[in-house]
Amino acid sequence: MYYKKSIDELIKKRFSCRIFLEKRVEPTKIKELKAACALCKEGLAGEKVKLQVIELADEDLRKIDPDDFSLIINPMTFIAGSIQKSKLAYESYGYLVEHLVLKATELGLATCWLGYFNPDYFKKIQLAADEILPAVCVVGYAAEKGFSSGRKKWGDLFFIKDFKTSMSAIVAGNYAEPLDMLRLAPSAGNLQPWRVVKEKNKNVFHFYKKRLDREYEKRKLHNVDIGIAMCHFELAAKKNDLEGNWEKLKQTITPIPERTEYIISWVGTM
Ligand SMILES: Cc1cc2nc3c(=O)[nH]c(=O)nc-3n(C[C@H](O)[C@H](O)[C@H](O)COP(=O)(O)O)c2cc1C
Repeated sequence: MYYKKSIDELIKKRFSCRIFLEKRVEPTKIKELKAACALCKEGLAGEKVKLQVIELADEDLRKIDPDDFSLIINPMTFIAGSIQKSKLAYESYGYLVEHLVLKATELGLATCWLGYFNPDYFKKIQLAADEILPAVCVVGYAAEKGFSSGRKKWGDLFFIKDFKTSMSAIVAGNYAEPLDMLRLAPSAGNLQPWRVVKEKNKNVFHFYKKRLDREYEKRKLHNVDIGIAMCHFELAAKKNDLEGNWEKLKQTITPIPERTEYIISWVGTM
């Protein structure tokens, strides 16, 4: 995905908008979003992905019940789609759709991820037996002055060498900005289930999921959150010319705290 604006600017501008104007997104912006969707063909584990821009018909808009979309006001346009099931499908979906959220932000649109939505409005997305639709994202014009909610402190999220030693921005060095941008990622209920442990003297960052809510865990929204965090981290790493890859490693940090699960690692090449 190519962004004209700087990625930190887009990440800082994004917030979860819950009151939208009753105004359709213009065709030129819809076209750009569709073109961006078309770039998202494969997930992190090679899963087949089909993302779409869905504009609800006037008839659908008339029958929306506030509970259909988590009380969001004037939801009209969505980014949503299917992904092939895999061990990383929820993370992949979060990772790819967040790239589109930042593209929408660049186009001057406001967004809100929704893990709770009425699937009846998304019948256009035909799911094969091996496909899922983990969450949707509403896109439109903000009718509120947005601000992002607070975030946990660095020391509660980022560690070095083991889970006992908190990592400071000074120790993170070149990776301070990618971690800062990760910290600004949206997450279901703002629970911020991401935990990252850096290896000592190596730019290897192990990403873990902390299970914080039983209902979100059941819907795998914490896993979607990890994918979103990976998107922010990777884009900010690239902005800082920090090359690397995502790898599922056999051996990472031990011991790991309770309710914490290893997901993936960023293996920096420098
Ligand atoms: C995977 C995911 C699912 C979410 N589901 C909902 C939802 O169903 N309803 C809602 O109002 N907000 C939802 N949100 C938005 C979060 O509540 C929001 O990101 C969080 O409170 C942080 O606020 P911010 O995005 O403004 O920084 C979701 C966010 C994510 C990442």
